[in-house]
Amino acid sequence: MPLTFPGFMETDRLRLRPPEAADAECLFAAYTKDADVARYMVWRPHTSLEETRDFVSRCIAQWKAGSAFSYILSMKEDGQFIGMLEACPRGHIVNIGYLLARNHWGQGLMVEAIQALTTYALGQAGIFRVEATCNVDNRSSARVLEKSGFLLEGRLARHTVLPNISDQPRDCFIYAACRP
Ligand SMILES: CC(C)(COP(=O)(O)OP(=O)(O)OC[C@H]1O[C@@H](n2cnc3c(N)ncnc32)[C@H](O)[C@@H]1OP(=O)(O)O)[C@@H](O)C(=O)NCCC(=O)NCCS
Repeated sequence: MPLTFPGFMETDRLRLRPPEAADAECLFAAYTKDADVARYMVWRPHTSLEETRDFVSRCIAQWKAGSAFSYILSMKEDGQFIGMLEACPRGHIVNIGYLLARNHWGQGLMVEAIQALTTYALGQAGIFRVEATCNVDNRSSARVLEKSGFLLEGRLARHTVLPNISDQPRDCFIYAACRP
């Protein structure tokens, strides 16, 4: 059976739900145009709301197709949008990617979201590994993975082009959480 993800999850402080078309304005205002958030990502900061609308449409289409499951993260307390977390299944592996709007960094929020998603994924039949890569200079991302219980497995040389840094592929760390 193909892997599916729940349409709603929650942690102590967060709610996770799939994106909707109406989220584009919030995403654009909160982070998609922010160069600091995009620095270690594979996309350039958006220069128009239209780009963010296209991105949200792709996320919705991927949910429908079952190819990737991205979640909008918001605070339980006041419903404020804070970031996104994406899960991409490939066979027995789920790869994750994540980000937070800048004013929500440094509060341990992403660890909560990653742990909830990882616990769900590793509890599904046929899923044995949740993995993530991060640029070797992205210290906060590496630390978040360590705090989420992921183990550093190695360094992937010349693995990912980060267009906001250079057009040359750069080294990444690979981290994973696995079923015992
Ligand atoms: C990566 C990101 C999600 C981190 O989430 P967060 O909820 O702010 O992270 P946390 O609050 O749990 O803490 C970050 C940790 O990194 C540490 N850290 C931050 N900058 C650091 C640096 N330059 N060197 C070493 N450690 C650093 C902090 O001290 C903290 O660790 P601690 O709790 O042990 O003190 C967030 O910074 C972000 O959205 N960045 C932009 C997008 C991105 O890079 N996504 C990941 C792509 S792989």
